[in-house]
Amino acid sequence: MPVADLVEDVCKEVSELVDAAPTAHDLMQRLVKLLHDRMLKYNWVGFYMLEPGAQPPVLVLGAFEGAMTPHVRIPLHQGICGAAASSGQSVVVDDVSKEPRYLSCSLETKSEIVVPVFVHGEVVGELDIDSHFPAAFTPEHQDLVQYCALLVGKKLEALGR
Ligand code: SME
Repeated sequence: MPVADLVEDVCKEVSELVDAAPTAHDLMQRLVKLLHDRMLKYNWVGFYMLEPGAQPPVLVLGAFEGAMTPHVRIPLHQGICGAAASSGQSVVVDDVSKEPRYLSCSLETKSEIVVPVFVHGEVVGELDIDSHFPAAFTPEHQDLVQYCALLVGKKLEALGR
């Protein structure tokens, strides 16, 4: 199946999940499973959420699919995850071996994308995906991951966070 068709199908499934999920946590759990199951190059899919009130701020591992990671808590000055959360910008790394900020989760990981989740314009967390394939996150994939992060932020807003 061409990647554009797959992305379109998965976007529809993600929209359906948003309507069906009773809580944001439930949505995030179903979403990481959907992306991990349907997107064959997404080998680790997870959310990191900012711990409410923590000073200095810290990202805490939330719902995820894939092998357990040693990085359960990530301060904002560390890793690709910290860079995405502190800048409020998506980060796409085609070759993690060339990225000095990269915190290794699996020796098999070759590329990574991290997209912030916003609630009322503020970063509250992020969606992080690792691939065993180099440069897995082409523009079509970036659109899909950004769409997922956007819908999670909207769900959190709708639920009054
Ligand atoms: N690679 C991330 C750490 C999280 S693991 O990939 C699950 C980083 O550099 O921030």
